[in-house]
Amino acid sequence: MAIVYVLLVALITAASHAPHGAHGQTWHGDLAALAAAGKLRSDPNATLAASTDFGNITAALPAAVLFPSSPADVAALLRAAHTTVAWPYTISFRGRGHSVMGQALAPGGVVVDMPSLGGPSSAARINVSADGQYVDAGGEQMWIDVLRATLERGVAPRSWTDYLHLTVGGTLSNAGISGQTYRHGPQISNVLELDVITGYGEMVTCSKSLSADLFDAVLGGLGQFGVIVRARIALEPAPTRARWARLVYTDFAAFSADQERLAAPGPDGAFGPMSYLEGAVYVNHSLAAGLRNSGGFFTDADVARIVAVAAARNATTVYVIEATLNYDDATAASVEQELSSVLATLRHEEGLAFVRDASYLEFLDRVHGEEVALDKIGLWRVPHPWLNVLVPRSRIADFDSGVFKGILQDTDIAGPLVVYPLNKSKWDDGMSAVTPAEEVFYAVSLLFSSVADDLKRLEAQNQKILRFCDLAGIGYKEYLAHYTAHGDWVRHFGGKWNRFVEMKDKYDPKRLLSPGQDIFNLVL
Ligand SMILES: Cc1cc2nc3c(=O)[nH]c(=O)nc-3n(C[C@H](O)[C@H](O)[C@H](O)COP(=O)(O)OP(=O)(O)OC[C@H]3O[C@@H](n4cnc5c(N)ncnc54)[C@H](O)[C@@H]3O)c2cc1C
Ligand SMILES: *[C@@H]1O[C@H](CO)[C@@H](O)[C@H](O)[C@H]1NC(C)=O
Ligand SMILES: *[C@@H]1O[C@H](CO)[C@@H](O)[C@H](O)[C@H]1NC(C)=O
Ligand SMILES: *[C@@H]1O[C@H](CO)[C@@H](O)[C@H](O)[C@H]1NC(C)=O
Ligand SMILES: *[C@@H]1O[C@H](CO)[C@@H](O)[C@H](O)[C@H]1NC(C)=O
Ligand SMILES: *[C@@H]1O[C@H](CO)[C@@H](O)[C@H](O)[C@H]1NC(C)=O
Ligand SMILES: *[C@@H]1O[C@H](CO)[C@@H](O)[C@H](O)[C@H]1NC(C)=O
Repeated sequence: MAIVYVLLVALITAASHAPHGAHGQTWHGDLAALAAAGKLRSDPNATLAASTDFGNITAALPAAVLFPSSPADVAALLRAAHTTVAWPYTISFRGRGHSVMGQALAPGGVVVDMPSLGGPSSAARINVSADGQYVDAGGEQMWIDVLRATLERGVAPRSWTDYLHLTVGGTLSNAGISGQTYRHGPQISNVLELDVITGYGEMVTCSKSLSADLFDAVLGGLGQFGVIVRARIALEPAPTRARWARLVYTDFAAFSADQERLAAPGPDGAFGPMSYLEGAVYVNHSLAAGLRNSGGFFTDADVARIVAVAAARNATTVYVIEATLNYDDATAASVEQELSSVLATLRHEEGLAFVRDASYLEFLDRVHGEEVALDKIGLWRVPHPWLNVLVPRSRIADFDSGVFKGILQDTDIAGPLVVYPLNKSKWDDGMSAVTPAEEVFYAVSLLFSSVADDLKRLEAQNQKILRFCDLAGIGYKEYLAHYTAHGDWVRHFGGKWNRFVEMKDKYDPKRLLSPGQDIFNLVL
């Protein structure tokens, strides 16, 4: 990104049509009006706040920030960018800036502060349809607000992310995966329609039947083709509560076989009763600390029992399936029986099944509680060198022995290691998101926090993990990838690359949008 920044500074300096005022820019036409209204700002208060992200690893100042009060304000910016000859600024859309490697930054460019679109009351841009079949949500809305608004009507989206203080447009630009993905597909598989403002500054309503090429490109499209200002999301009747189980394993083969069994549809195509399925890995060195820090689920006595069983088994690694069974008043009487009959078919360590009960909202918003707790002790705003990979099922055991039982043994680990299976049939291959070339693959999220001034070590460790996968010929795909070399992006998209470029040329021919992804700015 440093190279891009230098190039942009050179471009901006050369842009003599735009004389610089006290804080930088003088704007023309519609943009002058936005600046006069205080919506387009280049003061340091505005630009500093838009110069970092959750990753806390990379930072870059934009030249200006747009605080739009309507989609028309965003359209005006994109139109000016498209029509102005020698326009010097890239443009990014900052949802909550919860990317980890600068994906929402615009070095020397203009950052669109998406939450401004919501105005003072977020609920004004979340509309549930009269029949409760779908919700129209502004792209800037956070999923937690979509959940609250839909629950009021007794309905809710089906597919989630682990953490809900992310924006609708931000997760739909990636895929949006969690423990519901195995049965409902990623969030991008649950979208019925979008309003997108393209690189031309033109608002386009798109769906599978209307401007389908734009719809497919934008979903998982890393912000490259336009900005999502409205998404129509499918809903289901909402459960009210969840039985929430964690099951301990010391044997990877048993753990993954049980996960795959829970995730597999029956011969009739129908899924089993579980509503959500994930899993976590704890390496021996950080076992007790990892269990203690996993959202307060395990008591100290639970941790002691798990550690004792692992020691008795001489296990270097512990695996924990996490699954829920949603229910409501009508099914409350039978939920315990139903859960017990599922657990009876599984091969977890005897006596090491832990079950809790939570409201549906409390369960879905579980990571926010951890955020508050970590923030209080200064461990939330730290560097996050995360590594997310989708690993083909045929190689997940190799990944386990090479990474969990190999590279990560005897290391200090802060942050969860998450592993769970997904099925390609729930993904729409026409969309931009990429998955491995196998029917079943595992989402593996190594969500490291650097809490001991060890960012360099963790980054080197991530490189080592990827090198291991490359050498072993594991055909993985990164999720939330951040590449800086052109060839890496071409490899990442594989057979979808030519289409991705074609769509870029069609919807953002000046290659201005979401430069922080580092896909097109290096090959201008
Ligand atoms: C604590 C935490 C937990 C997470 N858990 C999960 C998880 O369980 N599953 C999962 O899939 N992901 C997860 N993520 C990753 C998350 O999906 C991405 O960070 C995503 O980018 C959403 O963050 P954001 O809304 O702040 O987007 P930003 O980081 O602000 O933006 C991300 C990119 O999308 C573009 N963009 C943003 N808004 C729009 C829009 N409206 N239209 C078009 N482009 C846009 C931006 O230009 C940028 O390139 C998690 C992240 C964090 C920090
Ligand atoms: C910047 O923030 C400071 C502190 O909040 C405030 O006093 C100042 O007026 C702000 N400046 C602008 C230009 O908004
Ligand atoms: C990381 O966070 C710290 C504390 O908030 C901040 O001072 C620092 O500037 C951040 N660094 C980056 C690269 O974001
Ligand atoms: C919600 O409905 C209001 C009133 O009809 C409308 O103005 C607004 O654009 C809608 N918002 C979305 C995101 O669909
Ligand atoms: C993946 O999904 C398809 C379609 O539902 C199904 O036929 C197949 O059995 C699933 N594969 C596994 C291994 O669960
Ligand atoms: C325990 O595991 C270690 C490392 O895997 C191995 O070297 C050792 O022989 C095992 N001990 C027993 C008693 O199985
Ligand atoms: C696991 O950790 C415990 C406690 O640190 C240690 O005593 C034990 O030897 C370790 N077991 C293995 C197999 O590495």
